[in-house]
Amino acid sequence: MDAISAIVAEIAEEMRAQEHRGKVADYIPPLAQVPADKFGIAVVMRDGTVHTAGDAEDPFSIQSISKVFALTLALGAVGDQLWQRVGREPSGSAFNSIVQLETEHGIPRNPFINAGAIVVCDVLLGRLQPREAIGQMLRFVRMVAGDETIVIDEVVARAEQETGFRNKALANYMRAFGNIHAPVDLVLGTYFHFCSLAMSCRQLAMAGRYLMAGGQSDGHSVISDRRARRINALMMSCGHYDNSGDFAYRTGLPGKSGVGGGILAVAPGIASIAVWSPGLNSSGNSHLGQLALERLVQKTGWSVF
Ligand code: DON
Repeated sequence: MDAISAIVAEIAEEMRAQEHRGKVADYIPPLAQVPADKFGIAVVMRDGTVHTAGDAEDPFSIQSISKVFALTLALGAVGDQLWQRVGREPSGSAFNSIVQLETEHGIPRNPFINAGAIVVCDVLLGRLQPREAIGQMLRFVRMVAGDETIVIDEVVARAEQETGFRNKALANYMRAFGNIHAPVDLVLGTYFHFCSLAMSCRQLAMAGRYLMAGGQSDGHSVISDRRARRINALMMSCGHYDNSGDFAYRTGLPGKSGVGGGILAVAPGIASIAVWSPGLNSSGNSHLGQLALERLVQKTGWSVF
């Protein structure tokens, strides 16, 4: 076994033994039913070697991690014009907070909080029908992951739709400021489908390769090197909501979390990493996922600092 495989196996072993695992999201039944004892990790190295341990092949709901892929698509569609409608500052608030929108004229702080991702979806709908935007997202993640088996979990999408009152409030509120252009239900339908992508740690780490490798994946250019750096910068500063500072302090890596318990982290030029454990901390980020990344960086020195 090589050094990274051994480290990954060690981390999975340590996480298996942890008693404090956080609280599994329970706002929709399909997430509440996920066993709390799951833990997976996948590390894809720049040379293409993949190291996995634990439940790395189990698909889980990537939820807000999809905001990274949606941002990539929206920047591809409209470029820097996007920044007229969404900011690039950490919010210091919960992922689904509405408060800043009132004084900030309906412009969300960044594309990784719910309000920001809803605007990103609206931008995509400036050129596409919802069905096309959802199809584009699915094709994109399959392409960057090199895996045609990735799907959207329709049960999750429906449950999101039925319970997403805060997201509906956010979208309507921004619409009142003129920062949502398409019909709110279409924007949210798109947003909920993005959140409902189901991927394993292996698939997610594979999908993150373009962020690790200066925009390149499988020998072709997905985005420019400059754009990859910028997305990584946003993941570092805003990828964990009001927990972003602590995540950066602990890991020194760009990362994006989701309430399904996944985290995609990037060691630029070195590795793309996905961890998954469904128990969350009070900010809605995977408790063991964060701890596992902290250990990985301690053992490898992959912090960007
Ligand atoms: O829109 C929501 O609130 C959820 N579907 C996703 C939020 C999420 O993943 C926040 N993450 N930590």
